[in-house]
Amino acid sequence: MKIESFFSNNIKEALKNNPPGEWMPKLPEECIRLSSGYPDPSLVPSQKIKEAVSKLLDEEQDLPLHYLGSPRIKKLHQQIQKRLAERKMNVQDEELLITSGACQAIDLIARVLIDESSLVVVEAPTYMEALEIFQNYTKQIINIPIDENGLQTNVLEEILKDRRRKNLSLPRILYTIPTAQNPTGTTLEWNRRKHLVKLAEEFNFLIVEDDAYGELSFEDDPQSLKAIDSSGRVLHVGSLSKVVAPGMRIGWIAGNREFISAFTWFKKDLDHPFAQATMASYLEGIAFEERLKMLKELYHKKCDTLIKALRDHFPESVTWYVPSGGYFVWVRISGIDTLELLEHSLGKGVSFIPGKYFFLNQQDGTEFLRLSFCYEGEAEIIEGIKRLGQIIMEQLKFTSSLLK
Ligand SMILES: Cc1ncc(COP(=O)(O)O)c(C=O)c1O
Repeated sequence: MKIESFFSNNIKEALKNNPPGEWMPKLPEECIRLSSGYPDPSLVPSQKIKEAVSKLLDEEQDLPLHYLGSPRIKKLHQQIQKRLAERKMNVQDEELLITSGACQAIDLIARVLIDESSLVVVEAPTYMEALEIFQNYTKQIINIPIDENGLQTNVLEEILKDRRRKNLSLPRILYTIPTAQNPTGTTLEWNRRKHLVKLAEEFNFLIVEDDAYGELSFEDDPQSLKAIDSSGRVLHVGSLSKVVAPGMRIGWIAGNREFISAFTWFKKDLDHPFAQATMASYLEGIAFEERLKMLKELYHKKCDTLIKALRDHFPESVTWYVPSGGYFVWVRISGIDTLELLEHSLGKGVSFIPGKYFFLNQQDGTEFLRLSFCYEGEAEIIEGIKRLGQIIMEQLKFTSSLLK
């Protein structure tokens, strides 16, 4: 039997891409994980979630375990709507779809809006899982560079104008992580936010705003693109993975009701009513604003520790962006291939993600790497950076001795 002959044509094409998750390093035991984009284990509220499950089942018995699920799912919608409203996003019932995490939201958007004829714009660098998803649906992807103030909207404008002049296709969607971006930790500045929304109107595309870290800015949260948009062009993707627990798989899409209706059509019941009811029960019992304040303070402190360790232990030629929030620091080491560096680094028990995986054109990321300050404790962060600094120093010496 020729297995391949059973796959649909678009799946055959998609299977030619690099396999998903190939960026994930195989970690030795006792490794300091500066690669993991997971919440700090001590900040995952497992005890409170246990209490939320008990309360849910005590009050509702078998109800949350049925297909239709608990009436609390409705409550989760309201809790999310309330948080969005506090951030100036007034979202009606028919404008909100709860999904199994932001990743299902991105996949649904791609599934409904993108085929092989559609052009997608992403940031360079961008969140590698989103890139993997878009590559499953189209080969027509272009990328726009990021600097310390986020997506370079002036470059985007030039490219759009040029494509229009040459009669080339214009984008169907632009995917952006405007706040505390993964992997760069940068935040799109206010004028660029307005410019981007204006460009979407002028060139008739949709913006997929991935706001996974939108409530984890170290300073005041910037206004979201959805809050700026007045013409329904922004599909706002949110998640509770980074502020509560990723294994609960709670995300959402907030946007124009006709899009939401189409996404709902294809999502069917491929989500988790029990997790949704549990999340609603958990959120009922906590002061979410206070939790966010605590998370921001702790992550900010860990971020400062990592930045200080970089200053103390990395050679002067190495550069990085100081993040405005989120989980990550983006580092550039001129003259070093960070995929090779990873091998040495894993040998010394420290992991990171090589930059190439965050780029559409992987060679653009050779000299970059992403460090996480979210997962490890401060002592481990310092030790990890110390070890990595020594390896980089040795590598740079070795490379310069070859050039002599
Ligand atoms: C930018 C971005 N979007 C989405 C996700 C995934 O979110 P979820 O767990 O809700 O699928 C992540 C997780 O790393 C992320 O960094």
